[in-house]
Amino acid sequence: MSGWPVRHAVWYAPGQTIKTNKIIMKNVIVRTCVLSALWLLFNRPAVQGQQQAGNDAEAKIESLLKKMTLEEKIGMIHANSSFTSTGVPRLGIPELTTSDGPHGVRPEHGRDWELDNKGGDSSTYLPVGITLASTWNPELGYAFGSVLGSEAKYRGKDVILGPGINIMRTPLNGRNFEYMSEDPYLISKMAVGYIKGVQDQGISASLKHFMGNNQEISRSGINVEMSERALREIYLPGFKAAVMEGNVNTVMGSYNKLRGEYCTYNDYLINKILKGEWGFKGLVMSDWGAIHSTKEALLGGADLEMGTDLSMLPNPDYNKFYFADPALKLVRSGEIAESVIDDKVRRILRVMYKTHMFDKRTPGAYATKEHAMVARKVAEEGIILLQNKKNILPLNKTTVKTIAVIGANANRENAMGGGSSQIRPPYEVTPLKGLQNLAGNNIGIHFEQGYTIARNAQADPALIQKAADAAKKADVAIVVGGWTHGYDYNKWDDNAFDAEGFDKPDMNMPFGQDELISAVVKANPNTIVVLYGGGPIDMTAWVNKVKGIIQAGYPGLEGGNALAEIIFGDVNPSGKLTMTFPKKLEDSPAHKLGEYPGDSINVHYKEDIFVGYRYFDTYKVKPQFAFGHGLSYTSFKYGKPLINAANNMATVTMNIQNVGSKAGAEVVQVYVKDRKASVRRPEKELKAFQKVTLQPGEAKLLTFTLNKEAFSFFDDKQMQWVLELGEFDILVGSSSQDIRVRSRIKL
Ligand code: BGC
Repeated sequence: MSGWPVRHAVWYAPGQTIKTNKIIMKNVIVRTCVLSALWLLFNRPAVQGQQQAGNDAEAKIESLLKKMTLEEKIGMIHANSSFTSTGVPRLGIPELTTSDGPHGVRPEHGRDWELDNKGGDSSTYLPVGITLASTWNPELGYAFGSVLGSEAKYRGKDVILGPGINIMRTPLNGRNFEYMSEDPYLISKMAVGYIKGVQDQGISASLKHFMGNNQEISRSGINVEMSERALREIYLPGFKAAVMEGNVNTVMGSYNKLRGEYCTYNDYLINKILKGEWGFKGLVMSDWGAIHSTKEALLGGADLEMGTDLSMLPNPDYNKFYFADPALKLVRSGEIAESVIDDKVRRILRVMYKTHMFDKRTPGAYATKEHAMVARKVAEEGIILLQNKKNILPLNKTTVKTIAVIGANANRENAMGGGSSQIRPPYEVTPLKGLQNLAGNNIGIHFEQGYTIARNAQADPALIQKAADAAKKADVAIVVGGWTHGYDYNKWDDNAFDAEGFDKPDMNMPFGQDELISAVVKANPNTIVVLYGGGPIDMTAWVNKVKGIIQAGYPGLEGGNALAEIIFGDVNPSGKLTMTFPKKLEDSPAHKLGEYPGDSINVHYKEDIFVGYRYFDTYKVKPQFAFGHGLSYTSFKYGKPLINAANNMATVTMNIQNVGSKAGAEVVQVYVKDRKASVRRPEKELKAFQKVTLQPGEAKLLTFTLNKEAFSFFDDKQMQWVLELGEFDILVGSSSQDIRVRSRIKL
């Protein structure tokens, strides 16, 4: 775990009272200095060792390059099957084997596109990206990545095609479920954990999709136009952190264009920013079929061409790839210098060295109990309690005797849905199964389907009637609904609302679920709605009628168990929204401005930096549920923050106490508001957070460091980050709209 950022240490033992703020600050500073010195002392040999290994690898790479023919080099920069690229056997260079995907190792496709179906290719179905990020726990990001890396290694993969970190610009993006958040800071923290987890297993991660792939409609060519400020403040920071802090080995370019050039070989993005400013030394691979030219793409910085569709040609042949025979021709004719190809091969070899493809790897593990328990832990912390009127939750196992579980999502499996991120898990615990597992024989559970998942399915009065009857007879009704994944990757019309290649048509509940929920709650006021899916859904028809609402995301193979633990109170929920849930689709900025999905040629990001809560909070639009929102079965008291501001940075120290009767975890969120600036700045921006677990009555002192970047904005005119000195408010709270304590500082 070398280099893994140490979480801000908590200096005081549980329950210890705080004497004076001055003493605390002094202690914090002294301890920080001592720890830093110790870190340097103990890590210096490791760092020196890494440098030496890096130098050795570079020398070997140069010597290999000298021995390679041009044809062999060209062979290495394009695919030779659906997920591999060619090696050079005579020099001991193996094929590079990639695999999806972001939340589990994909089933085997052999060398073509058909699923093998030979068995032996199941893997742990981890909760999807949005659910992982909802934990707001970077350490779980690391644990998640470790599982993925270990299973990829076991299955003989070199590169795992994840994490997906595109900004959630619209609630409709069909791939939001794979992504993490609308907020670049949260994405940065979670992605770095994930990447280190994967790569510490000796496997490479592939950061995708760089960048601006914020919708699936017209993804393969739409041109994204955005200001430099939006690029730098919103859309790039997650990628930057993944490269510079996470040291990710490979980056996957996106399908779309930015400012008229395909992102995968966009000179500004790839050569100037990624490889230039950020010093990225690894390889840039295309998304599957994202390369459309040879010369432009070679010069624009793409290193490896994957997935180009040759099916239209009479004799599909990988030598027809843009980076195959056509590239060879250009180098032979002198139009492209061989050094351009050398740079790409060097990058590929570098990834191979880092991924231990020339030496012995440690063994991986496969779909183990431990891995399933990591998946469960992520689900337990990633499932979000949105509403809990009259404390309907948790359900009391001794007083609740009958539960009506209603809704097709309650016994639906999701792992094989969604497109390239599909997984074949050894098992998947559905919500119904999870509730049955935990309820045992003491509680009667009656299931009603309630609605049908089928193309264009509408409210079915007969199913609704049966559901309402069941609800009436039960102590509690739990409706499990929301969005769905499709099952069959090849059948795009499979009503896959959360799936690659498509966006959702609108934000309305499909299959007549509004009518269903209204009928159920009329029959039984003790109704809880559990929502599956990769993001918001319009709840306005029933949000004020039901008592409980849980946002489950897609919580992985143990998801049903984790959900049941939360429902029965065995686990105290601690997940928080990573995306604003608007009341109506039109409230969200890209939609309000009519700037989604563009005209299939261009999409203009006119909302600029006002994405997600930056928009809702600044323009005073009330969301249904705010960014960062998530309830607990206990409550937390925030102490007044003590802020030490000097040298253009600030240290925030504050006490937090669990004042309820149950152990629980709170995500303490620190937002910064610039009180006066020469440009319009958001009402507040997330700049630090910590998740802290507290026993009843326990208090802890938290320390947050806000560096210069936390107060700066990107100035398009000067083309640089600018810190305008003056007053800033530090807002600390439980969501972007639930600020508990604040303090003003002057820089
Ligand atoms: C997706 C990528 C995926 C690749 C390989 C593409 O269609 O956009 O995310 O990694 O396919 O399956």
